[in-house]
Amino acid sequence: MSKALDGVRVLDFTHVQSGPTCTQLLAWFGADVIKVERPGEGDATRGQLRDIPGVDSLYFTMLNHNKRSITINTKNKKGLAVLDELIKTCDVLVENFAPGALDRMGITWDHIQKLNPRMIVASVKGFGPGPYEDCKVYENVAQCAGGSASTTGMDDGLPMVTGAQIGDSGTGLHLALGIVAALYQRNTTGRGQKVLAPMQDAVLNLCRVKLRDQQRLERTHTLHEYPQYPDGKFGDAVPRAGNASGGGQPGSILKCKGWETDPNAYIYFITQAAAWPAICRVIGEEEWITDEAYATPQARLLHLKPIFRRIEQWTMTKTKFEAMDILNKYDIPCGPILSMKEIAYEPALRETGTVVEVDHPTRGKYLTVGNPIKMSDSPTEVTRSPLLGEHTDEVLAQLGFGAADIAALRAEGAV
Ligand code: COA
Repeated sequence: MSKALDGVRVLDFTHVQSGPTCTQLLAWFGADVIKVERPGEGDATRGQLRDIPGVDSLYFTMLNHNKRSITINTKNKKGLAVLDELIKTCDVLVENFAPGALDRMGITWDHIQKLNPRMIVASVKGFGPGPYEDCKVYENVAQCAGGSASTTGMDDGLPMVTGAQIGDSGTGLHLALGIVAALYQRNTTGRGQKVLAPMQDAVLNLCRVKLRDQQRLERTHTLHEYPQYPDGKFGDAVPRAGNASGGGQPGSILKCKGWETDPNAYIYFITQAAAWPAICRVIGEEEWITDEAYATPQARLLHLKPIFRRIEQWTMTKTKFEAMDILNKYDIPCGPILSMKEIAYEPALRETGTVVEVDHPTRGKYLTVGNPIKMSDSPTEVTRSPLLGEHTDEVLAQLGFGAADIAALRAEGAV
């Protein structure tokens, strides 16, 4: 079966997490992704967080599926000439080097335009134009600068970073969308363009509802859906809301049977307005259906803490899965807190290809997250990440280099 991005060639000049997330998605949609790496070293993540000595790390393998790897030394003149050949024949160049690194290599926008005016040049940077544009940035810096850390955690605790890699993988997703949109626009303009996804901006985009709340707070000096209401004080910035949903449907994390020993024996429980009568019946508080203090969502906002304490008395009598089964029968929105172990062995996720087992020549079998985006006419088969330089000869041959040229390039340290 054909793939959505069949025929698209991507010069993948990315490393670590944000850029590789983007190019892995493009590869899953069918693009030919050629990852350029430094000879002898490769992407630094190949050697980071290793669980098996001398073998590409899970960090690397899980971000670089379905790609080819070519080594090119861009600090070598002949290496740069090889890169020029790739620029001429690819549709997209994706990079996430530190600000200015690409220009220092001599691969400026003007240079690329001269070689291939149809090329789309897509970049992840930590910040967009402004005071921090020259800064190097990693995941947690972006979470802090994009509004996530100041709005995550408990009210009386430190700002908190989340385990979800919204700065790196979140920005990679944004960049992938920009690239696909630019490819679409090129159909009518015939031209490439620059695509920039700054990590701070991507995190802020994902924290959009918190900027909403900032403006509500400035206008009304309170946020009725936050745990600080009604007894606590609000300052002039959106506070951390703990596990409260903070949105139109109040929610909280509640203990379930076994919480004393199992750190994940909890459920997220949402008191959706439409489900309120059912919730009251399930927990045995039927009078709350008509009691003025509880009958409307507005009235309940004053009593959310005692309401959740009462619901928790009920959830503590059930395991998270028992509670889930009962609540779902009544269309009460809820979700078990799943550990990574539970997710890894969840059969439904294996069946949909969201958790995939991959075989690797030096690592053996390992689990990875497959393509979370499912397309009926462009299915994804996850194939292993390439070894360092595994496709150097193959790619060079496709560019027209003969065996003797390749040997000479290698002898000079260009590839
Ligand atoms: N051959 C020769 N040199 C190469 C090369 C190759 N194939 N590929 C890269 N290099 C060189 C670059 O030219 C650069 O050299 P220079 O500093 O002399 O110009 C050097 O490698 C280092 O690149 P850099 O991007 O600065 O790497 P770093 O390890 O110091 O920084 C980051 C890593 C992630 C902090 C930085 O790349 C960054 O801020 N990127 C943008 C934001 C981002 O994506 N962050 C999230 C990462 S998950």
